[in-house]
Amino acid sequence: MKRIHICKASDIPLNGMKSYDSSLGVKVLIANSGDAYYGYQGLCPHQDVCLDEGFFDGATLTCHQHLWQWDITTGDAMGLAEAPLERFQIEHEGGDIFVLQASALRVSALFKGASDAVIARLDALARREVHASLSTLYDVGDAADDLYILESGRVEFVIGREDRTSLAGFMLRKGEVFGWAALLEDQPKRIAKAACIEPSTLLRLNGAEVLRVLAEEPASGYGVMRQLASLITKHLGSKGEK
Ligand code: FES
Repeated sequence: MKRIHICKASDIPLNGMKSYDSSLGVKVLIANSGDAYYGYQGLCPHQDVCLDEGFFDGATLTCHQHLWQWDITTGDAMGLAEAPLERFQIEHEGGDIFVLQASALRVSALFKGASDAVIARLDALARREVHASLSTLYDVGDAADDLYILESGRVEFVIGREDRTSLAGFMLRKGEVFGWAALLEDQPKRIAKAACIEPSTLLRLNGAEVLRVLAEEPASGYGVMRQLASLITKHLGSKGEK
């Protein structure tokens, strides 16, 4: 697990908060509540508003734009809020605050149960990409070569073309996999558009390379393919390809 220095604990006021640009590629909000420190996404999950411009009483964080609120101990949505905050695991040591970055592969439901050796091989193949808000990752009809794992941020899916489009939902949790058509031999083209709706960090893996690793490690490969089948069942019924 990688440790990323964010700030000095003394930089954060008692029962206060500040946000920082980080090498994670996203803003990180550090909040103090008594003796405890918490790390969350720095931008509101509703729109790209800095959360440290909002209100914080040591327990509840409120975005000043439309008054969404969150419990600072969990990041859970309260009141009007329609989405939780993404939480970062942090460490407070020697007066410094660090964010601990686990590989998104390790927390991904798709690769749950894969051996350490397989995760290490896939990690070595993965390219980490940082995308700005509103950037398109792929569009309908594009070649489905790569799959993605969300490390931080938010990605939205749109199905259809021009005036006949519909939202296919969005994801928030670290480790969510999308673009998994890259693991299907008979699905060479995208059937949905994927775009970042806030600055996002992604792991990008070539589907053919992933399949090669899984074929060489049949025990892990079988587990991943079973998990892929349940992912497809879950999303195709209601929302379409991610
Ligand atoms: S932008 Fe934060 S609640 Fe709307």
